[in-house]
Amino acid sequence: MGKYIMAEENQRTISGEDKIFGINKLAQDMANEIGHDKVANATVGSLLDDDGKLVVLPSIVKELQKLTPWDFAEYAPIAGLPSFLDAAKKAVYLNYEPKCYLEAIATPGGTGAIRNAIQNYTKRDDVVLTSDWHWGPYSTIAQELERKLDIYSLFNEDGLYNIESLKDKLDEIFTQQDSVLIILNTPSHNPTGYSLNSDDWDGLLNLLKTFTEDEKRKIILLVDVAYLDFDGGPEEAREFLPMLENLPYNLLPLIAFSMSKSYTMYGMRSGALMCLSPNKDIIDEFKLVNSFSNRGTWSNGTRSAMMVLSHIFEDQTLLEKILQEREEALSLLRSRGDVFTKAIEAAGLSMCPYVSGFFAIVLCDDPEAVVEEAMKDGVFAVPMGVGIRISLASLSSSNCKKVPGILAKAIKNSNH
Ligand SMILES: Cc1ncc(COP(=O)(O)O)c(C=O)c1O
Repeated sequence: MGKYIMAEENQRTISGEDKIFGINKLAQDMANEIGHDKVANATVGSLLDDDGKLVVLPSIVKELQKLTPWDFAEYAPIAGLPSFLDAAKKAVYLNYEPKCYLEAIATPGGTGAIRNAIQNYTKRDDVVLTSDWHWGPYSTIAQELERKLDIYSLFNEDGLYNIESLKDKLDEIFTQQDSVLIILNTPSHNPTGYSLNSDDWDGLLNLLKTFTEDEKRKIILLVDVAYLDFDGGPEEAREFLPMLENLPYNLLPLIAFSMSKSYTMYGMRSGALMCLSPNKDIIDEFKLVNSFSNRGTWSNGTRSAMMVLSHIFEDQTLLEKILQEREEALSLLRSRGDVFTKAIEAAGLSMCPYVSGFFAIVLCDDPEAVVEEAMKDGVFAVPMGVGIRISLASLSSSNCKKVPGILAKAIKNSNH
């Protein structure tokens, strides 16, 4: 008898409980037993204040409370409310107007955008490419759609963006298929906190242009901007966007936008997939295929969440209020990043290059054993690759100072 009784495996590796949620549960159990102040839970992927409460932007709550029953209850159009699609573009581009066609389609969060991108721009059994350090659900989504996720090394030995590794992988993939979708999560990459700088972007786009000189080939570059508002200033974080305009027609940039972090609406499942092209036919096709996908998966998105974003971008005063509230949340995260990075140095540990964002990676051998050891001292984090993922978003400032020392001790003890 096969592995499943009634279900079908369909080329997926389904391993039971999600690792991150499993460790989070252990942290919660210990906190309930010995007290929350004695536990440092660095597993949670949402921004918590120093008392462990989810940060929710107050103006968002007020906007939700102003909605009418119909705003909640009615269906939204399959492709999303037009006012929402305009607002989503503004949320990504602010006042900047791209000099090419830009189209958007509503999706349930960035997850839905990534799903639609893979479904519509790759074929069954294709390889989808991302970096070795990546957000786990990329693999889940690829498997759901019967695609294979392959990886290149994000960093070279000098800790710089590894363009050579990407080139080698693309050389290999183009011997097997003529089209490839690359997922790039920047700025504030999950899980390392890296943001591509302008040299990285130049190198990347020049490389991709070289590959697409052969017109038989197609490259789709899906930029996952889930943490766009958690990098440097709003303009600085968006400096790469104009580089995505007017690329060769067979090098197509897509953007996965999420309302989860930037608008603290994690549970309301709203986002958008965007497409930029100088070619109107490619843009029309984008709208068509993604509307079809929406209809055949979740149908339409969450109308109330769409209404809130529409209202924000129709009201300059409200927008400024939200930017200010977000800035407060961001300064909390920035100061945690500073405290943590200094404490890591003081503890003699090393990290992946961290620029900004919710997560950082502490490098070590045998991360599983180190995590087990650290749990004994009340520190809960996620072993990942050759390191440990620390959610700075969920650690209080005082724990950001304390945790590196505990990890150093755990690394020492796990070596015995
Ligand atoms: C790297 C990355 N991309 C995309 C998402 C999508 O989030 P959502 O589907 O809630 O918008 C997340 C959420 O954690 C993420 O970490």
